[in-house]
Amino acid sequence: MNQLAEKTNHKILKSKDFISLTDLSPLQLTELLQLAQTIKTKWKAGEEYTPLKGKTLGMIFEKSSTRTRVSFEVGMLQLGGHALFLSSNDIQLGRGETVSDTAKVLSEFVDGIMIRTFEHQKILELAEAASIPVINGLTDLEHPCQAMADLLTILEVKGKLKGLKVSYIGDGNNVAHSLMTACALAGMEFSIGCPEGYLPNEEIIAHAKEPALKTGGKVEVYTSAAEAIQNADVVYADVWTSMGQEQENAERLTAFKDFQINSELTNQAKEDFIFLHCLPAHRGEEVTADVIDGSHSAVFQQAGNRLHAQKAILTDLLS
Ligand code: CP
Ligand code: NVA
Repeated sequence: MNQLAEKTNHKILKSKDFISLTDLSPLQLTELLQLAQTIKTKWKAGEEYTPLKGKTLGMIFEKSSTRTRVSFEVGMLQLGGHALFLSSNDIQLGRGETVSDTAKVLSEFVDGIMIRTFEHQKILELAEAASIPVINGLTDLEHPCQAMADLLTILEVKGKLKGLKVSYIGDGNNVAHSLMTACALAGMEFSIGCPEGYLPNEEIIAHAKEPALKTGGKVEVYTSAAEAIQNADVVYADVWTSMGQEQENAERLTAFKDFQINSELTNQAKEDFIFLHCLPAHRGEEVTADVIDGSHSAVFQQAGNRLHAQKAILTDLLS
């Protein structure tokens, strides 16, 4: 039995917040994944594990969500705590109350804040002003909780992380940034294929390459899907048009047309590749139905792992 979940005085994360995987060391990533596995094992066995009794999480949403909202709310409940859904349409933040005042007020009431927002700067500002932990539930730049669930899924299906090749095909977006960083920390090969003009953020690439030097991981950027997917153990897709980019939809459909994940493309991955997608998916755009609904796909196990990965993050930050 892994001991991390029992050692309540062992803090994995040294920072108050969970905002970016670029803040984590390889050891912290490994320990968080181990804690998630321990917590999932308890949950599967029907064992009660309630380190967050009496704790409350405020969840601010400035964008839509199914998985993030439900998994955080259920996760808090299972850990013995409670979660509040705070839509920005309904709280004063949406009417111009400052981020800083919102952070200070919420710090008086709740024990942690999860926020899904647009500019990454906003979450940094919120965390700076809040005296309580702040968790990134997706910004335009990163989606770190998703990447934790992704690695947990790969670990479950493949039995290891180190040395595996993850090929992400599509937009160099928030999901790609966090996954790239997570793979580099875990000693994996991360290969991304994007059209020109949609490549990942240079700073995030440079940042991911640093731990990769120590872990044996690799980060490779291509402008062709076929080059990126060669010998992949994991093939990953996200939408071509992210939340907030809806007005670019037509132009993106054209730009990404050669970056669809279909069986012709996946033939160039390893025979036993697994297909992952953070969801929601658009069948017929970034992935064909035969791939996402086929035997290589682990997308629903992956969605379910949001719960367990986030319970580890919540336990470590709030208990
Ligand atoms: N993958 C993900 O974050 O899904 P939601 O937008 O439904 O939360
Ligand atoms: N890149 C997508 C992820 C959704 C979970 C978006 O930001 O809309």
